[in-house]
Amino acid sequence: MYGRPDLLDTAQLVASELVSNAVKATAARCASLEMWGGSPVPVVGLSVYPMFDRVVTEVWDCSPEPPRLVEVDDNSESGRGLFLVHMLSGGLWGYRRPRTGGKVVYATIGAEL
Ligand SMILES: Nc1ncnc2c1ncn2[C@@H]1O[C@H](COP(=O)(O)OP(=O)(O)O)[C@@H](O)[C@H]1O
Ligand SMILES: [Mg+2]
Repeated sequence: MYGRPDLLDTAQLVASELVSNAVKATAARCASLEMWGGSPVPVVGLSVYPMFDRVVTEVWDCSPEPPRLVEVDDNSESGRGLFLVHMLSGGLWGYRRPRTGGKVVYATIGAEL
């Protein structure tokens, strides 16, 4: 990927977890969003910062609800996605709420992690 094929698998995994959460949040919170003209569809962005040796994945969804890192035990069937993102990004993930609504969850991965 843009000169960093070694990051492809990790970037795909991170994007897939964030998108899966965005789809769930959309189904839960945004059923009536189309009525006021917003996008009910998650939006994915992938940015490469060669000068920092980092790849940033961002996923917007229409729910204002923040992502929550939950404690998981061996028997938990859910709550593993964000933990995985947390590990793969070395804790460099978070979210922000754009003024236009919803939120963007982002995670950054890079060579040194
Ligand atoms: N995009 C999101 N919007 C709202 N809540 C989110 C989002 N992503 C994660 N969450 C919250 O954080 C929790 C943990 O996410 P995750 O570890 O991926 O577990 P899971 O998807 O299996 O529930 C979710 O159960 C949900 O409550
Ligand atoms: Mg998940």
